[in-house]
Amino acid sequence: MLNFKFKNTTDIRFGEGRIDSELHEVIAQFGNNVLLTYGGGSIKKSGLYERVLKALDGLNVTELSGIEPNPKIDSVRAGQKLVKENDIDVILAVGGGSVIDASKVIGSAKFYDADPWDLVLDPSKRHSINQLPIVDILTLSATGTEMNAGSVISNPETNQKLGSFGPNTPAVSFLDPTLTYSVSKWQTAAGSIDIFSHLTEQYFDKAENIDITRGQMEGIYRSVIKWAPIALQDPENYDARANLMWASTQALNGWVRVGNENGWTVHPIEHELSAYYDITHGVGLGILTPRWMKFVLSAETLPRFAEFGRNVWGINNDNDQVVAELAIQKTYDWVKSLEVPTTLPGVDITDDKHFDVMAASAVKVGNLATGAYVAMTPADVRGLFEQS
Ligand code: NZQ
Ligand code: ZN
Repeated sequence: MLNFKFKNTTDIRFGEGRIDSELHEVIAQFGNNVLLTYGGGSIKKSGLYERVLKALDGLNVTELSGIEPNPKIDSVRAGQKLVKENDIDVILAVGGGSVIDASKVIGSAKFYDADPWDLVLDPSKRHSINQLPIVDILTLSATGTEMNAGSVISNPETNQKLGSFGPNTPAVSFLDPTLTYSVSKWQTAAGSIDIFSHLTEQYFDKAENIDITRGQMEGIYRSVIKWAPIALQDPENYDARANLMWASTQALNGWVRVGNENGWTVHPIEHELSAYYDITHGVGLGILTPRWMKFVLSAETLPRFAEFGRNVWGINNDNDQVVAELAIQKTYDWVKSLEVPTTLPGVDITDDKHFDVMAASAVKVGNLATGAYVAMTPADVRGLFEQS
């Protein structure tokens, strides 16, 4: 196990109905001027918007709405203007990963006087400046942004979708599973696949003898595999929504990564798909992941796949190769069972005109030549796109 430092200061308020009694006090501790950020209107449809405004009664609320999935830098630019003009003390982000990610960068942009795209292009910049406290109310279980410092922002002008890290995780996250009852089948599936992929990126790592974190991941994997189809069929099943929500947080709050050695692979490749074709992140991951698994399966990686097959998928067989191949098949079948496309043409990507430039960018941005679990060249990534 490598040396590590782990610190996560997010105050988690998990469970039904807490916002009505706790939100006002939580926000007011940071000041009176609040920027309320949200997306395309799901919070108005569900009635959450009214509840939030009621809880914020007495505070000065400025709003930024319309933050899109795969959040665009223009939303961050609009937010930067608002936080500066209104001397904002705290940002309340209500929504999924896109709203929360954009809000984190807006929180940094308050303390930056030039174009906030600079803060995305050079991720170390955000560490050298302050960040407004972020309080969020999570409405979609997927990204783990509710308890990590990451943000992924897109720039459609340059076809870039890039991650950056701020100095802080959210100050307070409200995790109310009932707020995800209204999430569509498509987004429930995509979010569950995203959680599965976060685990996969961290489970398939060269570090040996990290039984504690691998065991934690296996438990989270099994929960997602079990509860995602139930949430799809029975959207108001509290246990399903609660398990998915906590899995989202646990899979990517840094906890299961400690002691690891390698960087991620499938995410930087998927981010190219989202950057060029604006597809749903989790759906892209579901298409790529089983094919990436086939690519990395070798004599060297076989023991990890055998562990994955036995401990995650419960495959009972003495032959490691059989277990590994069955585990990949089961991964594919699970994605398919969630009623999302499993090929690129299924998400309307039918030509290969950007594949070379996307592959080169994924290798560069993701450091896939030297930092990955199994190294990938641009030709390998292109091959993965072609097989998809
Ligand atoms: O915009 P609204 O109207 O709110 O609708 C959203 C949006 O259309 C809808 N939605 C959210 N909560 C809902 C709901 N609809 C009904 N009821 C609810 N309760 O769902 C749609 C998708 O929302 P979005 O926020 O885009 O989804 P998600 O949470 O999956 O976030 C995806 C983004 O996060 C990034 C992804 O790349 C992508 O840009 N990621 C962020 C990470 C991080 N910060 O650590 C890591 C991830 O790997 C990921 O890359
Ligand atoms: Zn993800």
